[in-house]
This record gives sequence, structure tokens and C-alpha cells, in this order.
Amino acid sequence: MTLKESICEAAEALNLRLEGRKPEIGIILGSGLGPLAEQVEDAVYIPFGEIPHMKRSTATSHVGRFVCGNLAGKCVVVMQGRIHGYEGYTPQEVAFPVWVMHAIGVQTLVTTNAAGAINESFNVGDFCIMNDHINFTGRNPVVGTDPDEIAFRFFSMKDAYDPDLRELALQIAKREEITVHEGVYLGLLGPSFETPAEIRAFRAWGADTVAMSVCEEVIAARHVGMRVFGMSLCSNMACGIEGASPSDEEVFEVAMRRVPDFCRLIIELVREI
Ligand code: HPA
Repeated sequence: MTLKESICEAAEALNLRLEGRKPEIGIILGSGLGPLAEQVEDAVYIPFGEIPHMKRSTATSHVGRFVCGNLAGKCVVVMQGRIHGYEGYTPQEVAFPVWVMHAIGVQTLVTTNAAGAINESFNVGDFCIMNDHINFTGRNPVVGTDPDEIAFRFFSMKDAYDPDLRELALQIAKREEITVHEGVYLGLLGPSFETPAEIRAFRAWGADTVAMSVCEEVIAARHVGMRVFGMSLCSNMACGIEGASPSDEEVFEVAMRRVPDFCRLIIELVREI
């Protein structure tokens, strides 16, 4: 079976479960940010494992299901948890749900994560809107002949993170008095955190934040022409900054504390998209 055929099968199965809902926005919730899914009204819940060809999420706190319903007056499909490369999945398996969301009519992807702050002017708990990325996973979901059947394999990654959506989110954050920055996100395969030497190198390259997700999803979304908005919660300072040594516990503790502002920002963004 080709990738295109498996996407079609998954999209058909997902559509059946949506009972007529037609989501226009897809939202991927990163580590500790899952509670946003509880704000979705008139929701249906579809575990990833119930969709053909979808991989399961094995990461801590990633529930691993689609939640589809209304958020701020829009029909959305939320991924409560994501598929990571470090779980042993291929780039196409990581990107698969993005292509499936596109196949059911989603035009805008909002992808979020918890990340380490490389930029020393950022503080733990701040948000950072991605204005570009450095894909340092060493992988790309569009490699191979199969993705070329879905859409042309050569496409621009300039303004991959939609400038209008970024501007809109900045305005909302200002109005809501939530501290946000804009910056370059660097994505790695993980699962080990970085070394201090790597963080110094990434800073020299112009990276502001670092984590283990997002890049492959965004490449897949741009491959099929979706609009993309990406935002990180700075859950910790990156390794080596003022002695920082990131841990999973710290990431979740900070996420729990910042979830209310995170929800406010994303809900207002969805309202105004
Ligand atoms: N590095 C990589 N991934 C992360 C980090 C980090 O510091 N924080 C949260 N996810």
C-alpha cells in the first residue's frame, strides 16, 4: 500500500468518527499542554490506535487521541499528544497525522511544544512564537517517492511559519498581557537532552529555542500547502545556561503552571484566525 492510500484510509476512518464535523484548524498539543483539549465543546474523542496506520503515542502525558469539536466558535481537531521520532517512528510516521488532517480538510496547523530556551534573554515560563526553524533531526518526511504522489517534493520553506498568524498572535499576547517572544526554533531527534557545547553551537547558529518535535510536522504541512503557526512554552533554560540541566519533571511542572495562559492565547488565536 502506498503512503497516499494509507492516508486516504486513515482520513476516511477519521471522518466517519467525526459525525459530520468538518474541522478547519488542526492543533497539536505538546508535553504538558494537553489540558487545552478539555476546552473543546461538543467533542468526540478518537484514540490514535483506532485509526488505521496511525502510530500510538508512547511519551509521558501524551494521551494519544484526536479530539474534535468546537473551540472559540471554530471546528477544530486537536491532537492530544503527538508522535515523536525518538519513540522509534519514521519521519513519515511522525508526519502522517498532519497529512491525514489535511486530507479531511484542515487548512491551518497550530503546533505547540515545550522547549528549552537557548536565548538568555528569555525566562522560564515565557512563550516563543516560531518565526523559522532549523531542522537538525537529520530527517525529512518528504524523502522517498511516496510523498511525491501527495504533492510535489520541492517546495519553499520561506515563511513556513505564516507571518500573518505570527502577527495576530503577537497582538493577542500584547492585549492579554502574556509574555511572548518570536524566535528561531531548533528541532532535534532526541531523546537525550543536549550537551552544553551543543547549546553554545546552536546559539551561534541563531537558534532561540530547542526541543524534540515540530520540524517534521511543519515540513509535512508545508508540503501540502497548509498555513502553519508554531509556539513553544519555554519550560526550562537549555542545558548549561546558568548551570541548567533540563529534566522531564521540570518540563511538566512549568507546563502545568503556564497552561492557563497557554489556553487563553491559543483559544483567542483560534477565534481570530
Ligand atoms: N531540550 C530538548 N527538548 C526539550 C527541552 C530541552 O531543553 N525542554 C523541553 N523539551
